[in-house]
Amino acid sequence: MALLKVMEMIVAHPDPVGLRAVQVFNLVGAIRMVFAERRGESMPYSKFAQTDSIKGRIFSSRTGMAIIYSPAALVCACFLLTKLSSPAPDHRLVVFSTALTIHFIKRLLEVFFVHKYSGSMEMSLSFTISIFYALASAQQLYAQHFSVHQQPPSIDLMRFGMVLFLVGIVGNFYHHSLLAGLRKDDKDKDGKKWYVIPQGGLFTWVVCPHYLFESIGFLGIALIGQTTTTFVNAFATFITLAARSESTKRWYEKKIEGFPKERRAFVPFLF
Ligand SMILES: NC(=O)c1ccc[n+]([C@@H]2O[C@H](COP(=O)([O-])OP(=O)(O)OC[C@H]3O[C@@H](n4cnc5c(N)ncnc54)[C@H](OP(=O)(O)O)[C@@H]3O)[C@@H](O)[C@H]2O)c1
Repeated sequence: MALLKVMEMIVAHPDPVGLRAVQVFNLVGAIRMVFAERRGESMPYSKFAQTDSIKGRIFSSRTGMAIIYSPAALVCACFLLTKLSSPAPDHRLVVFSTALTIHFIKRLLEVFFVHKYSGSMEMSLSFTISIFYALASAQQLYAQHFSVHQQPPSIDLMRFGMVLFLVGIVGNFYHHSLLAGLRKDDKDKDGKKWYVIPQGGLFTWVVCPHYLFESIGFLGIALIGQTTTTFVNAFATFITLAARSESTKRWYEKKIEGFPKERRAFVPFLF
């Protein structure tokens, strides 16, 4: 009951049945992914790509990742441009779609200019995630567009959300740069992928600080949007990245001798 009261204060309401159904669908999907990670069935890309058993056609990781982010970036950018060219766009809607557009364009720029990939990914996986990201973005933009006609939240968290979003993207970018600095080239001298123990920044305390900052960024986006859809999306991102961080910690402990066991998976000193 108390939770419902708090929700009423911080999100636009009420949501139509269709949006609620998609929120439940997203949440169930995220929970299934968490259980899959815990069973050791990690999403097969990066460290977890099973290159030897791939049956379908493959992309290099860079191409696969570019395909993953491009449609979502396009959906968000087109939505933003449409809103900016309308006579009196809703302020929150413009800030929200700007944040989402920045998120995807940043990811694309990192794919091309920051990350040093060593592997490949199955084409079908790349297209599946790509479609999912584009649809999830469209869903969030639709929910935001719809919220303009809903009962607005009584507490305005947009500015706080903007601060968290900035902290999220800066922290995420910084740790991506540290990861890129671990490799001098895309391949070692035997032409294989290789991994070393990440150092610097929050890597001293956690295995995946870049995932932690990604979650902070999405919490920021949720607070900017203040719809149930954006909060569900931030929560789904948080639990899936927490589970992936746990899998990554297990992977390092198994594969890299001397990996510091005291390093937490996701949140310094806690988890
Ligand atoms: N919203 C979501 O649900 C979601 C989910 C996943 C990712 N993401 C976003 O995508 C970003 C990247 O995710 P990711 O899963 O691709 O991250 P990742 O597996 O940690 O890889 C990031 C880059 O660092 C390299 N790398 C990782 N560990 C390394 C090590 N120990 N030594 C040398 N190089 C290393 C990887 O190379 P290889 O490719 O060769 O492994 C890759 O180029 C995240 O920070 C987040 O922003 C979002």
